[in-house]
Amino acid sequence: MNDKKTVVVGITGGIAAYKVADLVSRLYKNGFNVQVVMTEHATRFISPLTLRTLSNNPVMVDMFDESGNHKVQHIGVAEEADIVVVAPATANIIARMACGMADDLLSTIILATRAPVLIAPSMNTNMYDKQVTQDNIRTLKNRGVMVIDPSEGALACGVTGRGRLPEIETIYNRTIEVLEGRHRDLTGKTILITAGATQEDIDPVRYITNRSTGKMGYALASEASRRGARVLLVSGPTALTDPEGVEIWRVRSAREMNDICQELFDQVDVVIGAAAVADYRPLDYSELKLKKSDDDLVIRLARNPDILEGLGQRKKHQILVGFAAETNDLVQNARQKLNKKNLDLLVANDLTAEGAGFAVDTNIVTLLFKDGTEKNLPCLSKSEVAGIILDTVLEIQGS
Ligand code: C5P
Repeated sequence: MNDKKTVVVGITGGIAAYKVADLVSRLYKNGFNVQVVMTEHATRFISPLTLRTLSNNPVMVDMFDESGNHKVQHIGVAEEADIVVVAPATANIIARMACGMADDLLSTIILATRAPVLIAPSMNTNMYDKQVTQDNIRTLKNRGVMVIDPSEGALACGVTGRGRLPEIETIYNRTIEVLEGRHRDLTGKTILITAGATQEDIDPVRYITNRSTGKMGYALASEASRRGARVLLVSGPTALTDPEGVEIWRVRSAREMNDICQELFDQVDVVIGAAAVADYRPLDYSELKLKKSDDDLVIRLARNPDILEGLGQRKKHQILVGFAAETNDLVQNARQKLNKKNLDLLVANDLTAEGAGFAVDTNIVTLLFKDGTEKNLPCLSKSEVAGIILDTVLEIQGS
């Protein structure tokens, strides 16, 4: 019996297509069955003959080619695959995948397969940054497609920015991780995540809130869910779509958020407090809309419960992770919070740094540990930061 794993390598029409020859060669040399499937456009960038030689297997391009071994070619390949890796993944294949199109052999195989699908987007920075491409990538992620974020650097089109194909080594390692099931390394863990801003009512039409959009918390929730965790997301109001596979509680006020977190705490292994919880709420809620007068208005504020601090006091086996967004004395303030709230890890971000904080897709953070050590991370996408936070939680649990 042939127990070799089959890797279907889908190559689409981007300039980075030539680099994928190295991926195909490595996979073949390491004993995998490699089936290369190219789009028509990809054949303009690299010759199928090269890939046929490196994979020791005929390359498939044409949907209606009858020379293959399978009765129905695209279904046969889709079923045989243990993983489908698309590299480079152009904006075009990403859009077609997001729409569920099956208009050539590669897109049809992707639609027909039940194997995990890993894509490595690579394209011009403007195409990558376009809202539609970002929306399509998010849609795919939410449906369980694994995405290796492109790296930054000089692109073939003369522009410098995001969109470079990651190193072949990275794509190879991720492929192996998925094949070995290591990408589901949070299976069996229950993670409670708070996200977004809270809203504290003044009267039936007015409330106090802050500028948090929930992006960091939602990135954590989808990353944890993708890695196999059971995710309980307690979210303030946001404009974001629900991450796939996550149990979600929608709340408005800090007190509502606190009640749910207190209730769920006993069943969780990890708590990540990414919500920007209002520290204060109006002391007196007015049932009727406040009328304006010619005088100034004074609203007295009452202290809200500190959710993480309360959970820190009840902590048994749980790992607690907090965030601190600061505008000054970042590390000093953050360390005080770590101690006061009895946390295991604190993720500190400097709100004054460009590329960090609210309403952006990137973040620059410092990780502070209980033992007094710290680690500075560079500017990364919020999903990369989420990945590193989850890796760190696993390390803390294992230590
Ligand atoms: O003290 P500070 O608000 O800066 O602490 C931030 C951290 O504490 C975040 O992880 C936040 O989610 C959490 N927090 C909380 N309840 C509050 C205030 C903050 O859980 N009332």
